[in-house]
Amino acid sequence: MKGEQIKEQTKGFHVAVVGATGAVGQQMIKTLENRKFPIAQLSLLSSARSAGKKIVVNGVEYTVQEAKPESFKGVDIALFSAGGSISKELAPHAVKHGAIVVDNTSAFRMDENVPLVVPEVNENDLLNHNGIIANPNCSTIQMVVALEPIRQQFGLNKVIVSTYQAVSGSGAVAVEELTEQSKAILNNEAFEPAILPVKSDKKHYQIAFNAIPQIDVFQENGFTYEEMKMINETKKIMHAPGLNVAATCVRIPVAVGHSESVFIEIDKEGVSVDEIKELLKEAPGVVLQDDPANQVYPMPADCVGSNDVFVGRIRKDLDDTKGFHLWVVSDNLLKGAA
Ligand SMILES: NC(=O)c1ccc[n+]([C@@H]2O[C@H](COP(=O)([O-])OP(=O)(O)OC[C@H]3O[C@@H](n4cnc5c(N)ncnc54)[C@H](OP(=O)(O)O)[C@@H]3O)[C@@H](O)[C@H]2O)c1
Repeated sequence: MKGEQIKEQTKGFHVAVVGATGAVGQQMIKTLENRKFPIAQLSLLSSARSAGKKIVVNGVEYTVQEAKPESFKGVDIALFSAGGSISKELAPHAVKHGAIVVDNTSAFRMDENVPLVVPEVNENDLLNHNGIIANPNCSTIQMVVALEPIRQQFGLNKVIVSTYQAVSGSGAVAVEELTEQSKAILNNEAFEPAILPVKSDKKHYQIAFNAIPQIDVFQENGFTYEEMKMINETKKIMHAPGLNVAATCVRIPVAVGHSESVFIEIDKEGVSVDEIKELLKEAPGVVLQDDPANQVYPMPADCVGSNDVFVGRIRKDLDDTKGFHLWVVSDNLLKGAA
């Protein structure tokens, strides 16, 4: 199926949201409402646990149903956000029923037959899908939106990123864990970490008043899977297999909004900070917030609810003549997923 075959129907589309009760699913529903997306029919799907739950969308009450292979009959667009294993199992059924799948999980991102798309960077890749379009990891999206205009203008040799990621990146239960732990600590009560850094891993650590240098599970090379996602997805989205990328991903006690300290080495000599700023001022989806004299820089508390990527603290490296430092912040649930 080709992108140009997506035709707007007179009454709108039959949309399915898989993972409708989750942190991302809820934002997807809000985004469909806010953008007045033409919806003729809406299927809200979850696991059996939430089946029967009521969700009001555009003033209409919908009953959440358990996601099953046959849930996709007649569906035009299926937005998947219920975890990689669910996407692997159910997305092929949705495609078989004629739906176009937009998948938020890591299930298909590195599949060479599946485009991995950030509209501001590689929109044209959408034209070559086979029914499934993958949405990158939240921390990758905000970084490539900020870096692509620089790469196009000055070339890019190297990216070294350290992230400061919000707990909502680990789902609604992680936000609850941060809230409950914070209350317990402030009230001098006992608590038992159970979700972060990774629910299925051996140990769990306190996130309230802490920073955890592990997001997702460790790989044999010493990087975590989240870090490898940033590395591999950035190269794929930018069509730059030779780009040097390294990442360190850290979870911090913020509910929503990922921050990133990014070092880049561009290809061209003699570029000034002002030239980078001018470029980013005009860049699609980017808001420049960079005025150190007036203490203006992006912070997660200010970016919640925005679809933009905020960039500030742009400095030239003191030793590397082609090196620059940037601070990149965005709403991980909205820009990074929904
Ligand atoms: N949070 C982020 O910033 C972010 C960003 C990009 C991508 N993602 C990806 O998006 C996915 C969801 O993340 P989230 O943060 O929204 O997680 P979440 O808050 O834990 O929500 C998970 C959703 O998946 C549903 N679900 C779980 N098991 C299911 C099953 N067997 N069949 C059908 N539905 C099932 C849940 O339904 P119940 O209510 O029934 O449990 C819930 O609606 C993950 O793959 C994540 O990696 C997240």
